Amino acid sequence: MQTDSSFTFVLFGGTGDLSMRKILPALYEAHRAGGMLADSGKIVAVARHIEDRGEYLQWVNEHVKPHVSKNGLDETAWASFLARIEFAKIDLGNPDDFVLLRDAIKDLPGIRVFYLATGPSLFVPICHALASVGLNANSRIVLEKPLGYDLKSSNAINDAVGEIFAEEQIYRIDHYLGKEPVQNLLALRFGNVLFEPMWRREWVESIQITIAEELGVEARGDFYDNTGALRDMVQNHLLQLLSIVAMEPPHSMDSDSVRDEKLRVLRALKPIDPRDIGKVAVRGQYHSGVIRGTAVPAYATEAGVKPDSATETFVALKVEIENWRWAGVPFFLRTGKRLADRVAEIVVNFRAVPHSALGASALRAGANRLVIRLQPNETIRLYCLAKQPGEGMNLASVHLDLAFDQFFREGQMEAYQRLLLDVINGRLALFVRRDEQEAAWRWVEPILDEWKTSTKPPKPYASGTWGPAAASAMLAQHGTCWLEEEN
Ligand code: BG6
Repeated sequence: MQTDSSFTFVLFGGTGDLSMRKILPALYEAHRAGGMLADSGKIVAVARHIEDRGEYLQWVNEHVKPHVSKNGLDETAWASFLARIEFAKIDLGNPDDFVLLRDAIKDLPGIRVFYLATGPSLFVPICHALASVGLNANSRIVLEKPLGYDLKSSNAINDAVGEIFAEEQIYRIDHYLGKEPVQNLLALRFGNVLFEPMWRREWVESIQITIAEELGVEARGDFYDNTGALRDMVQNHLLQLLSIVAMEPPHSMDSDSVRDEKLRVLRALKPIDPRDIGKVAVRGQYHSGVIRGTAVPAYATEAGVKPDSATETFVALKVEIENWRWAGVPFFLRTGKRLADRVAEIVVNFRAVPHSALGASALRAGANRLVIRLQPNETIRLYCLAKQPGEGMNLASVHLDLAFDQFFREGQMEAYQRLLLDVINGRLALFVRRDEQEAAWRWVEPILDEWKTSTKPPKPYASGTWGPAAASAMLAQHGTCWLEEEN
């Protein structure tokens, strides 16, 4: 596929962690693949503490190169990738720097993309500075999460940015939407007749969505301690996954059809009564423990974290969707750091057969279950019941597996690569619209409020486990349990 969409990609936060680990490696991969980026496309990195292009390229060689080598570095492609990179030293407090930026990029061809890989407190000042030199026209702006801290602050940012850029120019990133398996979820649901008729309350008993991580807060203790898992993972990634799992079939895959359907789900989430939070939400915080044989420290002793911190590193929730399709079906969401395994998966538990002509063993063997594993290895596993060989009619649970890497060995794309190409090519479907974001904040708000004022600290859990026992107890009340199995 050869593209002729030329672009100037201006990267604010050019020396930040995200640029180093994700954005520049993704641009390099697109460049190396050939044909995905127009030859004339330029990257203009912006940073404050670097003097000139030479110094920036040195930084890129030292810090970014190690992150791209994992697929085997192609030195020729790397050299031509560096040739795409320009540099602008910008001090936000100095309006003249933006005049220089405008003059430097004004004659470059194609669409301008401003990627704000900075803290959210800089979003509005940067947008104002861009507008002051007329750079908001013929351009797109990419906003990283977290966008705000709660509904009010997110609205304030959206209002201010919305005065400068039209909604169609604003690309709010949720990198989960760029993941191949999340895309595949749409294909599974809407490209097959098999599942859709059963994807509803009559046949589904409950659904679980888990994003579990083995990593702790790493070098982001300070940021994380002011954020917590509810804002970092639930308000965005988990609710986005939920909306894709639960949405109605869209009329087409154009950006607004998909986003309209997701929005309907987010708006149909049963509001949480503050008095019920103890019953439907569990928060936890990791203590020391062992992960894959290595001792790891408690959250409260991590760099940047307050020793008496009440920030949650684990959340489990019971969510209900108030619509015809899902009434009465609990959705259990869970995410946490320092858990027993790194896994993201969706588990659809189907109802048992209405009458078991096959006797007690059929009931004991359970019901159908569909497990869609998003990462680390993308698979779909369908549990069915089968007769055990031999005398009598004894049933056992067996499974059909679909491992995607057996079918598609090439062409996998990292989430950031897909999303950056979408921005450059003007495809909005995989970006979060303002109304979706608002609906998600509105729904989590009562939990945020309750936890802010609660005198009960988060429940402790040992690193390397699946989180506090209360998360399992919540499911036990519904006669179910989290699926925690080796793949
Ligand atoms: C980010 C969160 O959005 O997602 C991180 O800020 C988290 O805390 C990360 O580790 C998880 O993403 P992935 O793609 O590794 O599952």
